[in-house]
Amino acid sequence: RRIACRGGCEKLADSVATAITTTTTLETSMSLQNKVAIVTGGNSGIGQAIVLELARQGASLVIDYVVHPETTAELEREIAKLGGQAIGVDSDVSKVEDLQRLVDAAVANFGRLDIMVNNAGIETRTSVLDTTEDQYDKVLAINLKSAFFGTQIAARQMIKQGQGGRIINITSVHEDWPMPSNTPYCLSKGGMRMLTRTAGVELAPHNILVVGVGPGAVETPINLSTMQDPAKLQKLNSAIPLGRMARPEEIASVVAFLAGDGASYLTATSIFVDGGLMQSSIGL
Ligand code: BGC
Repeated sequence: RRIACRGGCEKLADSVATAITTTTTLETSMSLQNKVAIVTGGNSGIGQAIVLELARQGASLVIDYVVHPETTAELEREIAKLGGQAIGVDSDVSKVEDLQRLVDAAVANFGRLDIMVNNAGIETRTSVLDTTEDQYDKVLAINLKSAFFGTQIAARQMIKQGQGGRIINITSVHEDWPMPSNTPYCLSKGGMRMLTRTAGVELAPHNILVVGVGPGAVETPINLSTMQDPAKLQKLNSAIPLGRMARPEEIASVVAFLAGDGASYLTATSIFVDGGLMQSSIGL
């Protein structure tokens, strides 16, 4: 399109062209090149989007799986198509020795570990009155225990390497905000909040930064029951200032930023990616 202007038009057109070129270069830049990342729960939902975004930015990936090895294999192929590298490891993240196996796989295959994303999570949607012991144990083991020992084992490796690192805990708005009838989940996410803060302080001398990312409602399998119920979905959307659920990619881009150079002064805190949900107010 021609720009109508009086004099200096070429200059203006030149600077617009430069801006476009710069933006393109920035967008396609591989800011995580030579970095090695583990993403727990990386073969579905938010985890899968994180895996793809980190790979797009140049990182090599280790992904765990317990079930659906075929999904992980498919993801590996997709990453190879992007020109990246990824390996799937059979690992139950609620077990310490399996977490160790993930870190060992990162070191054996890619030589190091720079980014640990503790993302694996489940929920039972049960209340304080009806949660069984088994449900409680499972949620706390997969969400909180895995994040605790994932942090410990990753940090030990990063300290050995001596170049710092990033630990990113995927929590939820429910690390701080009650969700009635999802009590064990809230407990686990509240624990991850304090894990992030305490480990962030403890590991700061090693330049290992620990940050929590708290998504709101995201279009993933964990929210399928809400997404399939039009009345529930409408209620949820109207509680979100941005008026809609997030796409998994909108969480992944924040994680990629936190893993990169631009987030070098962020630690021991959480970022909420919730479309304003936690601050929502009807103004009464
Ligand atoms: C939970 C969902 C919930 C959403 C918003 C997520 O962390 O997994 O069940 O709908 O938070 O409240």
